[in-house]
Amino acid sequence: MSTLNPCITDWNNRSVWLIGASSGIGLACATHLVKLGAKVTVSARNMDLLLSFKRDNPSSMVAEMDVTRIESISQAFEQVKNHHGIDVVVYCAGHYLEQNADKFNLQEMIKHNDINYLGLCRVLSFILNPMIAQRFGHISIISSVAGFQGLPKSLAYGPTKAALINLSESMYFDLHGHGIGVSLVNPGFVQTPLTAQNKFHMPALITTDQAAVEMIKGWRKGDFEIHFPKKFTLVLKFLKILPYFIYFKMVAKATQSTK
Ligand SMILES: NC(=O)c1ccc[n+]([C@@H]2O[C@H](COP(=O)([O-])OP(=O)(O)OC[C@H]3O[C@@H](n4cnc5c(N)ncnc54)[C@H](OP(=O)(O)O)[C@@H]3O)[C@@H](O)[C@H]2O)c1
Repeated sequence: MSTLNPCITDWNNRSVWLIGASSGIGLACATHLVKLGAKVTVSARNMDLLLSFKRDNPSSMVAEMDVTRIESISQAFEQVKNHHGIDVVVYCAGHYLEQNADKFNLQEMIKHNDINYLGLCRVLSFILNPMIAQRFGHISIISSVAGFQGLPKSLAYGPTKAALINLSESMYFDLHGHGIGVSLVNPGFVQTPLTAQNKFHMPALITTDQAAVEMIKGWRKGDFEIHFPKKFTLVLKFLKILPYFIYFKMVAKATQSTK
C-alpha cells in the first residue's frame, strides 16, 4: 500500500513549529522531537512554561502566541520563518470544558470554536502560501475521537473537532499535489491538564509520552490519520458504522454512570 504522505524518517535539522506546546501532548512531542535533532519552536500563551522548556532544551526556540489574536500569530510566524523556517507545523492548541444542551453556554461555544478551529484557520492564513511556494512541508492537526460523532458532555468541544477532521480531509486533497503532507491526529484519552477535569473513568488512558511516540510513528509511516490507542479508537470507529438507534443506545448505556 502506498503511503498517503511523504514519510518523515529523519528529523535532524527539520524545523518543527508546535502550536499549543506549553503542556500536554504538544509539550511531550516537542521534547521527543528535540531529542531526534529537530529545530523545535514551541508556541502558546504561558511564557513561564515555554521558558522552562527552553531552559531544558536550549536548542529550541520560544514564540509566544495566542491563537485567538491575529497580530500575535503574525509576530510568532515572522519569528519562526526568519529563524527556523517552516517545515512542519503541528496544531495542538485546544480548549475543553464539558457542556450539555440543557446547560447551554454561548460564551463557551464561541471560545471552543475560537481556539480549537478558528485558531487553526488563522495559522493557515500565514503558513499555506509559503509552504505551497517552497513545495514541501507538513501540517499536522490534533483533532480527537470526540470529532467522530456526537457524545455526551461534548456539545462545545465535539463540533470543533469534527470541523478539524473535515478540514484536514479537504486540505489533503488540495495540498497533496503541492508536495505538502497533511496528517490528522485523533487521540483517545491522554493524561493532560485538559482531561484532568474529567471525573469519570477514562478508558484506555495513556501518557503524553505514549501519545508523542504514536504521533512520531505515524509521521514516519506517512499516515494521514494517526489514531491511538487502537484498542479504544477502533471501538469508536466501529460505533460510527452502526445505525443511530443502536449508537445512541450503546453510548448512553456506556456513559450513564458519568452523568
Ligand atoms: N488529552 C486528551 O485526552 C486529548 C484527546 C483528544 C484530543 N486532544 C487534543 O490534544 C490537543 C492538546 O491537548 P492536551 O490534552 O495536551 O491539553 P493541554 O495540556 O491543556 O494543552 C493545550 C495546549 O493548548 C494551548 N492553548 C490553549 N489556548 C490557547 C490559545 N488561545 N493560544 C495558544 N495556545 C493555546 C495551551 O497553552 P496555553 O494555555 O499556555 O496557551 C496548551 O499548550 C488539544 O487539541 C486537545 O483537544 C486531547
